[in-house]
Amino acid sequence: MARLTLQASRATAVTLEGRELAYFGGCGYLGLAHHPRVVEALTVGLARYGVSSGAARETTGNAAPHEQLELELARRLDVGASLLLPEGYTANFAAAQVLAGDHDLALIDEHSHASLFDAASAARLDVRSFPHGDLSSLRTLCSAARGRRIVIASDTVFPSLGHIAPLRELAFCAEDAQAALWLDDCHGLGVIGAHGLGALEHANLKGGRVVLTATLSKALGCYGGFLAADSAWIERARATAQAYLGTTPIPPALAAAACVALELAFDQVELIGRLRANTALVRAGFERLELPVPDDDLPVFAFALESRARMDAVFADLCARGILAPLIRYPGGPAQGNFRIVVSAAHSLEELEHLLDALRSSLRGNP
Ligand SMILES: Cc1ncc(COP(=O)(O)O)c(C=O)c1O
Repeated sequence: MARLTLQASRATAVTLEGRELAYFGGCGYLGLAHHPRVVEALTVGLARYGVSSGAARETTGNAAPHEQLELELARRLDVGASLLLPEGYTANFAAAQVLAGDHDLALIDEHSHASLFDAASAARLDVRSFPHGDLSSLRTLCSAARGRRIVIASDTVFPSLGHIAPLRELAFCAEDAQAALWLDDCHGLGVIGAHGLGALEHANLKGGRVVLTATLSKALGCYGGFLAADSAWIERARATAQAYLGTTPIPPALAAAACVALELAFDQVELIGRLRANTALVRAGFERLELPVPDDDLPVFAFALESRARMDAVFADLCARGILAPLIRYPGGPAQGNFRIVVSAAHSLEELEHLLDALRSSLRGNP
């Protein structure tokens, strides 16, 4: 599939081949990547710290914004501590490296992100997958592994499948099996939970068993990853995780920008409220068009049509109408690809209505 090359982007529009198109892709659920206050914090930070941290945190690469961001993340998520990693992918490597210190078996939901499998294998955990969301298979696997030190792992939100993992039930399974629970909240942070604080808030999870990994690159509109867990566990990660010890952290300026993004996302209900209102509007529009909608209230609308040829025709027609509705192939998704239409808090009512009108015309015009 041809790779798209963007020449510029705004919160809800991109420039592609010299044309500006309304944008309904990516994972910027709160529209923060272009927020003037986030951009300003980055600019001020660049002037103060330069572009790169230039060294690992435990040597000379640590700066005040890194520590401030970790404190802010821990405070808002109501966990003991957090630790920044260069990305969500590396955060999963760090999590697995620490977990492998006192566990030997990882049971991972089969549809979890590749980084969980890669990380667990690289940390030499014995890796088995369990059928997606199938708690009874998970319990059977846990019983068969009695005596072993188990980690249960899953993404918290499966946006392309349209649902949230059964988080409380996973926590009960982990409790019963005396297992650690490793949750990847990359798509949950800024989206689920009463205040958008992610999986921990959504399922009211607390306590020493849970290790959370997440990204700053999606809803928060910045870049980087982090671990969140109890303080003693994060101290161990700081002391032992090679993915932390041997990597350059995100630029301090980016950490400063992420602190502002956290404030915008969570100090007021406005952005989360707008994301939810926009999601509800598009959901109602999809139902009218008889297109599939997610089971849970998620801002990602993923669907395939009967044939690749029809999807190509609808994609081209939408582009001609001024809309970029991504047609993607992603590991684990349908072989022929699928549309992945994403709503953000930054979309205006007019933009959402334009999307729904254009979709109606394109689907009718390309039967
Ligand atoms: C569920 C999940 N985990 C981890 C990652 C990796 O995060 P990052 O892009 O910050 O490396 C992604 C990114 O797409 C993801 O969707």
